[in-house]
Amino acid sequence: MSSQQPDLFSPDSSPAQRIAELARLLDFHNHLYYSKAEPEITDSQYDTLFRELENLEKLHPTLADPNSPTQRVGALPLTGFSQLNHPVPMLSIDDVFELKNAEIPEAELITFYQRLQKNLGRPDIAVTLEPKIDGVAVSLLYENGSLKHAITRGDGTTGDDVTQNIRTIRSIPLTLAQPPTSSIPEILEIRGEVFMPISAFTTLNTQREEAGLPTFANPRNATAGTLKQLDPKIVATRPLAFLAHGLGAYTGPPLALETDFHSLLHTLSIPRNQPIHTAQTLPQLISGISFFRQNRHTLDYATDGVVVKILSRSERETLGTTSRAPRWAAAYKFLPEQQETTILAISIQVGRTGVLTPVAELIPVLISGSTVSRSTLHNQDEITRKAIYIGATVLIEKAGEIIPQIVRVLHPDPSQTTFSIFDSVAGKCPSCHAPISQEIGFVAWRCTNFQCPAQAVTAITHFAARKALDIASMGESVATALVAHGLVKNPLDLFSLSAETLANLNLGTDQSPRRFGEKNAAKIIASLHAARSKPLHKWLFAMGIRHLGESAAKELARLHKNFSAIPTSPILTQLLADPRPTAKKLNPILLPYAITGDVGPAVAESILTFFASEAGQNTLTRLAHLGIDPPSTTFHSHQNSTAIFSGKTFVITGTLSQDRDHFISLIEANGGKISTSVSKNTSYLLAGESAGSKLEKATSLGINILTESSFTILLPS
Ligand code: IVH
Repeated sequence: MSSQQPDLFSPDSSPAQRIAELARLLDFHNHLYYSKAEPEITDSQYDTLFRELENLEKLHPTLADPNSPTQRVGALPLTGFSQLNHPVPMLSIDDVFELKNAEIPEAELITFYQRLQKNLGRPDIAVTLEPKIDGVAVSLLYENGSLKHAITRGDGTTGDDVTQNIRTIRSIPLTLAQPPTSSIPEILEIRGEVFMPISAFTTLNTQREEAGLPTFANPRNATAGTLKQLDPKIVATRPLAFLAHGLGAYTGPPLALETDFHSLLHTLSIPRNQPIHTAQTLPQLISGISFFRQNRHTLDYATDGVVVKILSRSERETLGTTSRAPRWAAAYKFLPEQQETTILAISIQVGRTGVLTPVAELIPVLISGSTVSRSTLHNQDEITRKAIYIGATVLIEKAGEIIPQIVRVLHPDPSQTTFSIFDSVAGKCPSCHAPISQEIGFVAWRCTNFQCPAQAVTAITHFAARKALDIASMGESVATALVAHGLVKNPLDLFSLSAETLANLNLGTDQSPRRFGEKNAAKIIASLHAARSKPLHKWLFAMGIRHLGESAAKELARLHKNFSAIPTSPILTQLLADPRPTAKKLNPILLPYAITGDVGPAVAESILTFFASEAGQNTLTRLAHLGIDPPSTTFHSHQNSTAIFSGKTFVITGTLSQDRDHFISLIEANGGKISTSVSKNTSYLLAGESAGSKLEKATSLGINILTESSFTILLPS
């Protein structure tokens, strides 16, 4: 056993002493187990100590510490994260990219190094190299060795207080052990990445798949999603890890070199990012990069590059930072990894809006840390452009290390014909066998049957999603069962279901039935009741109309009073009629609404087409019968009475930057009137360059004079 280790079995001591001693012991063994994977005691010995501490803390609640080993998962769920400031800003790093097909792929890195040479005035600048972890940046603040809080990067100045969640990560010490020959820094702010090891990520996704839960796209998303959880009990079940790579606020013994910082981390048992190499010269730096390129997949975390930093910490201060990144560091980004594989088949999926999406089924290959067996082919244009056929050998890569894409066909066989979506399904929807069609100007093939069951299930789950009408318990399996039993054909049919029908719904098979049950049925009925009075934007989004996403729905709700105002909306008609309002030629009718880019001609067309279609008309009739007309909660009238220039008379004079008509339409669109001569009834004189007698008259009458720029400021943005 190590000399650092306190005695395992209690000597006689006071409760306070024993609590402190047990905490130290547990922290120590925790570190051996989770960080070093070298446990020295058995699990049951650990449990015995843990229970002893738990009992003592219960008996002496005043002695309990939030950083006690018993408190890692002890906290109650939060209602939201509070915001905390970073004592030292959390900067980003400038990227230098590995160049594709270039003679010197490291050219950008060399430029970075040359800048260092120039700024420091010598040829050899020692730098460190370490893997760039694809995780979520977090800052840990230790005060006198005790973890005070953990903050996400946020905007670099302020982040979320995620201390409760960070405490659940076993490899992060909550209390730093006193090193034998040095002292603990008074203030120690450690920057690093929280991530999910690839192996743990794969296991987690398999478990989630088996449990019927949605899987995570990649370890980074899984990490970010986990850190956002408000309940630390959930976080504790997820296999997160942490590695330190930087220092923020610090008061302690001087750290001249980056390697001194790493020694400090080692002494304090804080898990640190490794391997870390030092390069004394540019050639050493280039060969160091090759080492990391070759070994990147031996790490158990996703990495897309190498972070290069100046070894001397004092020289870093000489170089300083820009507003976003230090001048002394660069992140060398590897080209995305590519792999060869074969297309075994191409399957066609029918999406929520009826779009047929081709998906390549591949011989599974490992790429950028995970196995890829499918890849979307997007649409027919993409397939044609890349001349893709079944059986083709293809090169795949992960765009942004996330979604696998087919780059191109390798060794194309000219005797093979390019895959055709239409031919492969004989012109019929693979789900309902209704004819498929391709709209003019669109590449997508879609199923023409709005009651297509493939669309019904997705339409219902979308309708019921939390961001839409939030219908509890209406997940994919319930929607599938409802559609399969012919109880529901489209989302509005849900309102006709009785509690009894729902309770008797069979979610299993005929052989092994599984009743949905009264309790769940009651939940759905209650949520459907609540959905009736949900605001307009939720309903609009819930409709699943093409191009009508959440932000467009919110913007439309700002512009309309209620649901029934949408199908006949003059704003939408106008948007469609005037597809390209430019800054120069502003549409005077739309101007006062200050419509954001979230709603444009495509959204307008999609909505108007939907309500004109049989499905849309049917929807309107059904809503009227159900007595549902969702009101907007954000609408404010844009009638001219509230327009900024309402009741105001303008006179325009002099030379302006654009023709008069432009200014006249701006004034009128904002409720103002135009007059040709200045009188005491004039509210404003808009005066351009070389204004003459009108300006004089207005000045003498004490009328407000506006220059072009002060006029522009008055306009609603
Ligand atoms: S050093 C001033 N080292 O990548 C910032 N950062 O894209 C110095 N990152 O902000 C940071 N691995 O959150 C450093 N080995 C590593 C890293 C690393 C991942 C993150 C970090 C940084 C971001 C920039």
